[in-house]
Amino acid sequence: MVRKKACIFISGYGSNLKSLIHRSRENNFPINVSLVISDKFNAKGILHAKKNSIPYLIVNTKKRNFENLILKKIKRYKISVIFLAGYMKIISKNFIFNFRNKIVNIHPSLLPKFKGLNTYQRILKQNEKQTGCTVHYVNEKLDSGRIILKKSFFIKKGDNEKILKKKTQKLEHKAFPEAVIKIYRYN
Ligand code: GRF
Repeated sequence: MVRKKACIFISGYGSNLKSLIHRSRENNFPINVSLVISDKFNAKGILHAKKNSIPYLIVNTKKRNFENLILKKIKRYKISVIFLAGYMKIISKNFIFNFRNKIVNIHPSLLPKFKGLNTYQRILKQNEKQTGCTVHYVNEKLDSGRIILKKSFFIKKGDNEKILKKKTQKLEHKAFPEAVIKIYRYN
């Protein structure tokens, strides 16, 4: 099996990046994490790239052409799929056009519910019974692309934002690699 070269976009802690790097050590995992891109110079997740000798790029999003720099790098590394793992910057339409159906995001809610930011806070406010995470393709509309898979759990009395985040992220670390396998199962 020829493994696809994947680029992971991060902005923060990088726990999902870590889980993807971990799984891509298995020879039959469909992707290899070949490049990491961060829009924050102090993102903790960059350490996972460094530790695993994975090339990384920190982009200055104040520069108008920063997405072109990303595209250049992605072409140089022959990247064929992009995973957004906590990347907090909105991707431009032009960029999405260049990578149609090749950008995948993970979101901490059961989409289409609770698109956007402050998800845990809103989930608790709405007294939801269940929550979870969703892996989906990225299109021009925020958190609205085709869903690849979801994982859910029941919210318990007393669960606060911190607990919801912990439970959701635990699921995410399984969901993202599972989604990768699902994407390539029939390809
Ligand atoms: C994840 O919970 C993901 O759903 C959201 O951002 C968070 C990133 O966490 N989009 P990490 O940086 O992977 O630890």
